[in-house]
Amino acid sequence: MKFTKLIIATGNRGKYREFCEIIRDTAGENFADEIIFAPEISRMIVEETGKTYAENAMLKARAWAERSGLPCLADDSGLELDALDGAPGLYSARVVAGNDSDKVSWLLGQLEGKADRGARFVASLCLCVPEKFTLITEGECRGKIVDSPSGYDGFGYDPVFLPEGYELTFAELSGHAKNQISHRTNAFRKIYGLLKQ
Ligand code: IMP
Repeated sequence: MKFTKLIIATGNRGKYREFCEIIRDTAGENFADEIIFAPEISRMIVEETGKTYAENAMLKARAWAERSGLPCLADDSGLELDALDGAPGLYSARVVAGNDSDKVSWLLGQLEGKADRGARFVASLCLCVPEKFTLITEGECRGKIVDSPSGYDGFGYDPVFLPEGYELTFAELSGHAKNQISHRTNAFRKIYGLLKQ
């Protein structure tokens, strides 16, 4: 199945770019002819009121599919720290007001003096194709949190996340390298696998 148009239901341009690369790296030109950034269609904001990543991803994908009549792909993701019993998790985007670097500072503050730096990124993806079907998958990427930020690529907590088996943070790796192993990629591979069945 190849879509003529596909909406990426996010207001975050960094995430939109990453999705375009993930789709190209995973499916080449076989997934969609045109990949649209949601704010180009509407200013709609969908409240993330779900209690799980999957519920939030579905809320966003369904709302945008209803609004546009087009296939929509949405995600909800977060960073879970072992030392904090999985926090900030679902609330990773909202832990403090401010920009990405304020959130990174908050995170490093929470881990101060803690030996356990284990963490995982988690992403749920939802693909909603109006009047046909809705698919939901989940992917993860395990790693640990470094002592201070390194690297300038990516977004969010990328500068402090060292994926398992690597010596560079997500922000030091190229986008292509991150997309080989990321939580979002792992979830997208499952969506692509289901569509090919
Ligand atoms: P949401 O999925 O848009 O609700 O964002 C979840 C939060 O987790 C945001 O603060 C992101 O910055 C962060 N996050 C999710 N995925 C990644 C990633 O791949 N790299 C860095 N931060 C991420």
